[in-house]
Amino acid sequence: MAKKVTVNTIQKYKNNNEKFSVLTAYDYSTAKYLDEAGIDIILIGDSLAMVALGYETTHSVGVDEMRIFTKAVSKGVQHAMVVTDMPFLSYHTDISSAVRNCGEMIKNGANAVKIEGFSEYILSVIRRLSQIGIPVMGHLGFTPQFLNSLGGYKIQGKTQEAADEIFKQAKELEKAGVFSIVLEMVPQDSAKYISENLSVPTISCGAGKYCDAQVLVSDDVFGKFSDFKPKFARKYGDMKSLILNCAKQFNEDVKSGRFPSDDEIF
Ligand code: KIV
Repeated sequence: MAKKVTVNTIQKYKNNNEKFSVLTAYDYSTAKYLDEAGIDIILIGDSLAMVALGYETTHSVGVDEMRIFTKAVSKGVQHAMVVTDMPFLSYHTDISSAVRNCGEMIKNGANAVKIEGFSEYILSVIRRLSQIGIPVMGHLGFTPQFLNSLGGYKIQGKTQEAADEIFKQAKELEKAGVFSIVLEMVPQDSAKYISENLSVPTISCGAGKYCDAQVLVSDDVFGKFSDFKPKFARKYGDMKSLILNCAKQFNEDVKSGRFPSDDEIF
C-alpha cells in the first residue's frame, strides 16, 4: 500500500523538483476516490462555503462546520495528507483560540491546517502552532477571507513592488515554520521567482506552472459547481450533466412505474 504523505514527503518533492497535486474534498466518498487516484494533499477548503453550502463568500463558514467536514474527509483518506482550511475568525482574535480551533481539526483527523494572509500576528500564530506540532500551510496573493479589503477577486503581485512584497511575506512565513505556501491569483512570472527562491514548496492556485504543486477546487474539476468558473480552473468532467441525467431518469422511472423492478424488491 502507498505510504502516507507527510510534511517530509512534501519537502522531498520540492527538493527533488517533483510536482505534487492538491484537490479539495468535503465528503467521505469524494475523499476516498481522490486518495485512490493518488492525489497528494486533500484540502478541506473553506471554498466549501460556496460550493457545498451555497453561501456567497467563504466568510460564512465556521469552526463547527469545518470540524464536521474534516471528520468526514479524513475517514475516507489513507494515503494523502489531509489539510483543513481554518475559517474566517477562527484564528484571528488571539493565539489561544487559534490553537484550540486548529487543534480541534487535528483531533478530528486533519494532518495540518491552512491559514491565510500575513501580519506579525499571523507569524506568531504559525510559530505557536509549529511549536505544538501542528503543521501550517500558508496562503498569500489573493486571500478570499480578505475579499472585502482587497476590493474583489483581483490578481495580486502584478507590479514589481507588489511581487516583492509577496516574496518578502513568503520568506517570513517560511521562517515562522510553514511547510508550504499557496499562491493564489499571482502572475506566473512573480510566482516563478517566489518559488525558485523559497525552500518550502509553493502551491499554485491560478499562479501558473512554475510552482511546486497545483491546487484546484474539486467541484470545478468535476464540473459539478456551475455558478461560475475561475479562469485558472480546468474542468475534467461534467458532473452537473451526470447528476441531471440520473435524476431525470429516476424521476421518469418512478412516475412511469419502471422503478422498482422485481429485482429491486424484497
Ligand atoms: O478554500 C479553498 O478551497 C482554497 C484553495 C482553493 C486554495 O483555499
